[in-house]
Amino acid sequence: MSFIKGVEQIANKKVFYDNALKYWDRVPPTLDGVMGGLPLLSDLDLQESKPFLKKLAMKHGMKTERACDFGAGIGRVADKLLLPVFKEVEMVEFSAKLCEQANKDFTAKGLIDRLKITCVPMQEYDTTIKFDLFWFQWCVGHLTDEDFIALFTRLRGKLSENGIIVIKDNCASTEETEFDKDDSSVSRPVTELERLVKEAGLKVIEKEQQKNFPSIGLYPVYTLALRTLE
Ligand SMILES: C[S@@+](CC[C@H](N)C(=O)[O-])C[C@H]1O[C@@H](n2cnc3c(N)ncnc32)[C@H](O)[C@@H]1O
Repeated sequence: MSFIKGVEQIANKKVFYDNALKYWDRVPPTLDGVMGGLPLLSDLDLQESKPFLKKLAMKHGMKTERACDFGAGIGRVADKLLLPVFKEVEMVEFSAKLCEQANKDFTAKGLIDRLKITCVPMQEYDTTIKFDLFWFQWCVGHLTDEDFIALFTRLRGKLSENGIIVIKDNCASTEETEFDKDDSSVSRPVTELERLVKEAGLKVIEKEQQKNFPSIGLYPVYTLALRTLE
């Protein structure tokens, strides 16, 4: 049995997660660090995420009380995309070093009162309160298939009325999932992400491909908005 469909290189689930944490604990806690050495992509990314988020509110009735940002790094998405729109934001991040940096930065900006920083592995996350939005950016490739399905199934039950889950991630450009041993993650084809979200009882209500990234051989980036299957 493989932990991720089509990937035979992961022999041990604990090692898969431990190696990812070692990698993220090593990167500098900066924009450059969390963007994999391509910090200029951040503004381009946000340029397309902002209208996507607006569409979720205008067309799908998503409320803007509370959002949660998974695999949040130093809070790039929380800062530039979510806090300007939502009253409260929670960040879920497993690297203590990145959480500490976020705490420092958001305290300095006077935003810490509206932000909760939760330093846990996302596969272990649970909440007793409901959220209007769960946002996963460039991090679901760090989850095994089983943990992906369990987490998304759990979060489906924690959505407020009209609540939405978003995945924005690199996707393989062929139908084969690719393993990256450097940061211990995978890039799944978008069809495989769609299969996993269906297994978790969710359906895709919006799907967009990032259009404004430079042609420098990057993976295609897809944004999927998900709702509970009726
Ligand atoms: C490529 S960075 C993206 C950061 C942020 N989402 C952004 O777009 O700026 C991936 C992030 O996911 C975090 N991460 C990876 N595996 C994780 C896990 N199992 N639980 C929580 N965070 C995780 C890493 O520490 C890192 O901060």
